[in-house]
Amino acid sequence: MKRTLGVCYYPEHWPEQQWADDAAQMVATGLTWVRIGEFAWSRMEPRPGQFTWEWLDRAIAVLGAAGLNVVLGTPTATPPRWMVEKYPDMLPVDAQGNARKFGSRRHYDFSHLGYRAESRRIADLMGARYGANPHVAAWQIDNEYDCHDTTLSYSAAALAGFRDWLAQRYQSTDALNRDWGNVFWSMDYDSFDQIELPNNTVTEPHPAHVLAFRRYASDQVVAFNKVQADALRKYTKAPLIHNYMGRTLTFDHYKVGADLDVASWDSYPIGFLSDRLEGTYKEKQKFLRQGHPDNQAFHHDIYRAVGRGRLWVMEQQPGPVNWAPYNPAPLPGMARLWAWEAFAHGAEAVCYFRWRQAPFAQEQMHAGLLRADSAPAPALDEAAQVAREIASMPDVDAVQAQVALVFDYESAWAWDTQPQGADFDMFRLAFAAYRALRRAGLSIDILPPDTADLSDYKLVLAPGLMTLSDTLRNALSTFDGIALIGPRSDTKNAELSMKLPLGPNLPDTDVTVAMTESMPPSDAVALQGRGQFHHWFEHLEGSAPVHLATRDGQPAIMGGDNLRYLAGWPDDKTFDRIIGGLCDSLGIATYDLPAGVRIRDTGTHRFVFNYAAKPRNWNGITIPPAGVHWEPTT
Ligand code: GAL
Repeated sequence: MKRTLGVCYYPEHWPEQQWADDAAQMVATGLTWVRIGEFAWSRMEPRPGQFTWEWLDRAIAVLGAAGLNVVLGTPTATPPRWMVEKYPDMLPVDAQGNARKFGSRRHYDFSHLGYRAESRRIADLMGARYGANPHVAAWQIDNEYDCHDTTLSYSAAALAGFRDWLAQRYQSTDALNRDWGNVFWSMDYDSFDQIELPNNTVTEPHPAHVLAFRRYASDQVVAFNKVQADALRKYTKAPLIHNYMGRTLTFDHYKVGADLDVASWDSYPIGFLSDRLEGTYKEKQKFLRQGHPDNQAFHHDIYRAVGRGRLWVMEQQPGPVNWAPYNPAPLPGMARLWAWEAFAHGAEAVCYFRWRQAPFAQEQMHAGLLRADSAPAPALDEAAQVAREIASMPDVDAVQAQVALVFDYESAWAWDTQPQGADFDMFRLAFAAYRALRRAGLSIDILPPDTADLSDYKLVLAPGLMTLSDTLRNALSTFDGIALIGPRSDTKNAELSMKLPLGPNLPDTDVTVAMTESMPPSDAVALQGRGQFHHWFEHLEGSAPVHLATRDGQPAIMGGDNLRYLAGWPDDKTFDRIIGGLCDSLGIATYDLPAGVRIRDTGTHRFVFNYAAKPRNWNGITIPPAGVHWEPTT
């Protein structure tokens, strides 16, 4: 697979006379993809049924004639004003019950069937018009599902859809009452029409009710995406793509991805560090202009799984963004490093967002490859450098990782619903495990929770899985490496009630979670030797061997040769020690990497990235700040 570069472009923002020059400059920079169209509905269909496709025909022709491949976006993230007049009840409603207004974007409710039909209609029209266009080489459906918190909507449309969904899932209210345990607090129902959305209750709503609504809401995203995918597939064989976001867990990305050909995501490393990751600014200071050294990698790996091996970065941060609390500029070299890191994780394409900074509207403070006055912004040269480097490198060649991390979206909803400790968060837990693997210099695959075959891996981590699926349990029962399951794994049934007999039910492994504690940041459970569990600790019982104990003698890791249960949430140093010990016993090579240095292996090369703001040494080689080094794998 070839590595390629591209850019996001909005022909409707610029005079038509400028398009050809822009296209020529993109090509001269070494870009081959240009993504367009995803917010342009008001310029495609200014009034219902009145179409002005001609400008888009010409834009595609001009870009294509310059030699660019077009990624054409369906514009359903930005329904035009007339649509809201046609369907006033299509607006998403927040948890307090307030309708969110027109005047920005994503002002639609995934449950609204009228809007879903409109989205099918516009996708169908675009497919019919451009599906066979030789310049349209890929499609993007919608833009960033859930951006601005739009998966969960407490609207009339959602209420009607939810009741119908419940009736289909449970068939009778007796079954629902039994499965949820509605005898508790007299919450029994006689009819599906009595069931409300789980907002504005007096105290916390029933966890099974919330989890059902989260599943329902995720299914609406899947359905919304699928109607467009089905419409487009009638007309095109080009890959269908969606651009997912960072740290967004409100819908099951694996299920959306099953209807698409490629998973892409929008990578804003500095914005995410400031806006979306735990830690104080003092702690983040070291990476303020680089982004967290593991966050991009984590998302590349999870979206490679969502895309069943096919990954793109559809939007790559080029300079300061406009939306984080603070928006520093990247260290020189980072726009290059981020692209190479994506390629090292298997990306086929990296597209910078955006070509030229817009001098107007919400994102005028967001950098592009060009400044608003068309002068080059710093990332333009870096993109050109990446393009030259790609030309001198062999094609993408994935390598089989030895280590895997299982990640599950339903569990994220479960723990959101029932955190039990203020710091318990699925992303945070999985990311803590992932970071430890990365600090050991390992290349990682992320796997979905229904993975049926683990035989390619030596070490598998599965933290925080609410329920082990039968397929995964089967795969674990014959696994001959080491799988470390937990904490908080397989202790709930599908309705978020406790399992009886108590979990986890690990094949041939006598371990039971007898009691669970969560701890405030001021507290921890000390382990024998050194290290500690923070946030979370489960008291284990059973006859399985104890591999690690707490200082007061309770099991901390328990299980057999292959399947082991981790009773708590290790702090970073403890995670390092646990991973180091497991890798030693499995014969997996680990590295003592300098701070901020990370490695990723491909089939042909080892890539070494310096996220530090200072030069670092790797095997006698000095890598400058924001530097990338690669060497052939032997
Ligand atoms: C993304 C979005 C783009 C643009 C960008 C700014 O979330 O897809 O349209 O808003 O952020 O960083």
